Amino acid sequence: MAKDLYTLSQYVVDLRTIAAETQDDEAVVERVRPLARRLALSKDWVDPRYYTCDEEQGFGVHLLHEEPDHTLAVFALAWLPNRGTPAHDHGTWAVVAGVEGDERNTFWKRLDDGSRPGHAELKHNGERVYGPGEVVSFLPSEIHTVWNHTDAITLSLHTYGKHINFTGRSKFDPERGTATPYIVKEE
Ligand SMILES: [Fe+2]
Repeated sequence: MAKDLYTLSQYVVDLRTIAAETQDDEAVVERVRPLARRLALSKDWVDPRYYTCDEEQGFGVHLLHEEPDHTLAVFALAWLPNRGTPAHDHGTWAVVAGVEGDERNTFWKRLDDGSRPGHAELKHNGERVYGPGEVVSFLPSEIHTVWNHTDAITLSLHTYGKHINFTGRSKFDPERGTATPYIVKEE
């Protein structure tokens, strides 16, 4: 079978087309999902340096593309074994495709109306493990936790409507009921 040579630059061209033609986040995500899967499986774009992780943060954030206004941000994220994120939203649409290894997503349902600054009431809403070529997507206010429960570094391809450090998104502590700004460190 011929190898599918879908490149990062072709993906960016396709993202621009989708963004220009589609306004609704749900519709954007439905169009991006199969393309993210295709790029995640083609792997020609993967560079060994994308496996670098930040020891303190627990994962490595490698920016592959963003537009000058920070929209259409594409990242490779590498995850250290037994590390992950706090619960968080994205403040923009998000499409995540597995590249190497299995990553566990825990989903949260927000019960409060967000009217009290710094406060959030979250309820556990299921979990699922995503492997290479599997895609999970989120609307701007949807909340999840990512965890690498394996004993090897994992890699996934993340695409966002806007660079996640420019959306004013939050991280959450479900036990304490808090919401605070969430900025990630880039490699
Ligand atoms: Fe996320």
